[in-house]
Amino acid sequence: MHLTLGIILAIIGSLMLTSVTGVDPNNFKTCEQSSFCRRSRKIQSSGSKYAIIPGTLNTYADSLTADLINKENHHQFTFKLEALVGSTFRLQIDEKQPLHPRYRVEHALKEEPKTARISVQKETDGEITISTDDHKNKAVIHGDPFRIDFYENDVLVVTANAKNWLYFEHLRQKPADAADGHADGEAGAGNAAADDDQQQAEAPKSPGEAIDDPGAWEENFKSHHDSKPNGPEAVALDFSFPEAEVLFGIPEHADNFVLRSTSGTDPYRLYNLDVFEYIVESKMALYGSVPVLYGHGPRRTAGVYWQNVAETWVDIYTAETNVVSSLVNFVSGSRKSPSPAAHFISESGIVDAFIVLGPKPIDVFKQYAALTGTHPLPQLFSLGYHQSRWNYNDERDVASVSSKFDEYDIPMDTMWLDIEYTDGKRYFTWDKFKFPEPLTMVKNLTELGRHLVVIIDPHVKRDTGYFFHNDCTERGYYVKTRDGNDYEGWCWPGSSSYPDFFNPVVRDYYAGQYALSKFNTVSENTMIWNDMNEPSVFNGPEVTAPKDLVHYGNWEHRDVHNLYGHMHLMGTFDGLEKRDPNQRPFILTRAHFAGSQRYAAIWTGDNTAEWSHLQHSIKMCLTEAVAGFSFCGADVGGFFGNPDSELLERWYQTATFLPFFRGHAHIDTKRREPWLFPERTRLVIRDALLKRYSYLPLWYTSFYELELKNEPVIRPLLTHYPADKECFAIDNQLLVQDRLLVRPVMQQGVSKVDVYFPAIDDKKNGDYWYDVDTYQRQERAGYESVPVTEYKIPVWQRGGSILPKKERQRRASTLMLHDPYTLIVCLDRQGKAEGTLYLDDEKSYDYRQGQYIYVNYEFAHNQLTNRFIGKPKYKSSSWIERVVIAGLSTVPQSATITVNGVSQQLEVLQQDHAVIVRKPGIKMNVDFAIKLNY
Ligand SMILES: *[C@@H]1O[C@H](CO)[C@@H](O)[C@H](O)[C@H]1NC(C)=O
Repeated sequence: MHLTLGIILAIIGSLMLTSVTGVDPNNFKTCEQSSFCRRSRKIQSSGSKYAIIPGTLNTYADSLTADLINKENHHQFTFKLEALVGSTFRLQIDEKQPLHPRYRVEHALKEEPKTARISVQKETDGEITISTDDHKNKAVIHGDPFRIDFYENDVLVVTANAKNWLYFEHLRQKPADAADGHADGEAGAGNAAADDDQQQAEAPKSPGEAIDDPGAWEENFKSHHDSKPNGPEAVALDFSFPEAEVLFGIPEHADNFVLRSTSGTDPYRLYNLDVFEYIVESKMALYGSVPVLYGHGPRRTAGVYWQNVAETWVDIYTAETNVVSSLVNFVSGSRKSPSPAAHFISESGIVDAFIVLGPKPIDVFKQYAALTGTHPLPQLFSLGYHQSRWNYNDERDVASVSSKFDEYDIPMDTMWLDIEYTDGKRYFTWDKFKFPEPLTMVKNLTELGRHLVVIIDPHVKRDTGYFFHNDCTERGYYVKTRDGNDYEGWCWPGSSSYPDFFNPVVRDYYAGQYALSKFNTVSENTMIWNDMNEPSVFNGPEVTAPKDLVHYGNWEHRDVHNLYGHMHLMGTFDGLEKRDPNQRPFILTRAHFAGSQRYAAIWTGDNTAEWSHLQHSIKMCLTEAVAGFSFCGADVGGFFGNPDSELLERWYQTATFLPFFRGHAHIDTKRREPWLFPERTRLVIRDALLKRYSYLPLWYTSFYELELKNEPVIRPLLTHYPADKECFAIDNQLLVQDRLLVRPVMQQGVSKVDVYFPAIDDKKNGDYWYDVDTYQRQERAGYESVPVTEYKIPVWQRGGSILPKKERQRRASTLMLHDPYTLIVCLDRQGKAEGTLYLDDEKSYDYRQGQYIYVNYEFAHNQLTNRFIGKPKYKSSSWIERVVIAGLSTVPQSATITVNGVSQQLEVLQQDHAVIVRKPGIKMNVDFAIKLNY
């Protein structure tokens, strides 16, 4: 039986794999096929009628509450508007007396947000104006129709319910005969409580009351039945952004950075799904869901975080920006086209929206991160290069791949093991034939300065010989079906069940499995990859868990779906921290929700070896980065399919400037380690990797500043050039902080690329940009055609910035700890520059006790100086071996370094378009000045 199923599955698997044409969208729901989405979307043509009930308004020190009524069915709601510290408002709407409580999201926010004081500015019949105590922010609440206008410094930036698309399906008793979907409101369902009967009976009948949809109380998709015991319970609300020209955010989609209009198409969908061979330029759901959306215009940026973990669809309305409509507007004298807007539609839960008011892009990113947190400073090794494939077959394979990297002088930090290392996909166990001595294997890697990452998925093999399964069964740790049994689905191990990570006891148990006393075949340096945690269920509806499963607290899977992976990660992170309390965990996850960035890095899942997928690696990671996930990357080379030499070369080059850098491939692809390609390819890849390693001090400093200041590591151009409309939609370029401009080659067979140098004003004035290979200077904003060789990664450093590098070549980043630094100083128009460097032990939490050096370098008046931010307590044995200065008009004759009043002459050389100050030889923790002599 077991064998037969296995064979059948293998056949199905191979059939699926031979067609590399991409996903069949028919396997996933459209909005029209999803009852709550089509119901909620209908409101877009009729509008809704919600109003504040007069006399119910209460104001408090930091908030305001009132009752709302749906004027069509007279159902009542409460709403609460809170002011939060950090130019943020929180809007919550729930039923006043729900039949039973509705789900409220937990664990996504970093902590309970701090509220800010408000005062009432003005109260008239129909509206009330509140403002924060600093008078910066203001909300005007309109009673009928219900609407809230949010102002930043007296400029209207967001309106909630501008289009009157608020839609809130109250919980109700199942009608006696629900099949026709019209019976709502009629008493008599067998399980109706007496109280509710009365309430229902008193409610006047109106068209708004009936849910006229055959899917309201049960629905089917393909062969799957959803029992929907709670019936219709959707929530939806629209937000408009009057100051915006573009909307972006709401990852994860394989689409452009700027969101496209959904008029005439499906909305963007947020529902964590394992999509086999996903396609690009698509609004389909993928593995992660982060419901934060920003509206950006030249003057203002604002955003909305829609905190809901049920299935969510987002309609996008963007102003027509074509020439004809602008002309029409001009001629007709109309001020502008309608404001860009978004309509969030969720299947259950409540309305819980955070409005971040900006005013600048970096402000909204930080305001959002203040709510959901940031990725904590990772260990340095995790910013190096990761080598993975499904699968490295055995210990010899691992050892040989590792040694080949050394043989060919290519740096590599981490070897990865996919599911085949386990004993029959039983996680926390090893295949004893292929991996008889895992600890020795780990130790061998450790001795080389390398790490091992192994996969641990959430599905559990239903096997009475497997301790994990037995524990979960005996203790009732699995997610349950509606009738209280352990849910069984099909995944890699065959028949599988899924731990209910929403239960803190289950999370504790799971975290405990990482203890070295339990998982004693790895070391405290072995890190973890959490895959398949949407969760993926091969035989489930849309390859995931049925919505009527039951979780801890009696919540339906429907209510919590998008948070399942997040809860899994919380357990893993806790497990790794307990395993070794003074070592920062590294976890890679596929599923994610808002806040998951506090625990894990992400990658863009199972992409394909095609140029379009390479291009989307940047688009997708930019969107993730502004939604909190700076630690993002894509499978280098593409997971499915076989990249040719050129695609693989360009992919490595592109990934050199994305935060998470891992080569990975499907089990059916050809082996693609760099030495299996012609020599040139190997050398191009090596060149890219050396470049990556030389910039590790910049990446590391950037991640420290992400934790410190909530500022994304990689950024779209509009972040620092918010007024330059030309760059709003550019998503084939990215910034690393505000120091590097990266425009990788992502097209086949090109000898030049068009690069856009952004403008700092509306007069096409730009920063200076220095080619990082030659220090040749770009002085004008605008498009430039730049020639590229096969080795070239087009990258520029901004004039006005200083960044740290390490230029000695090593096998792995861990061996670079004591290596000396090079500072690259690129001057702006005034001959000035500044920039930071952060360093510590690269591994432990000691930095949180002050064991670090954080320094700001400044160049002005021909002199480079440093200034420590905090005490430079960390004892580093590194020093500065070189200072490169680009942008000097004449070459100085020498330089003088002064430390503690003692001066010394330094040699200065010219190289390309820069000068090099040789061997300052200063320790990292001393004050110094280097003066150029003419
Ligand atoms: C560990 O390294 C030693 C020495 O190179 C080698 O003989 C042994 O096979 C390695 N063991 C594993 C499990 O990789």
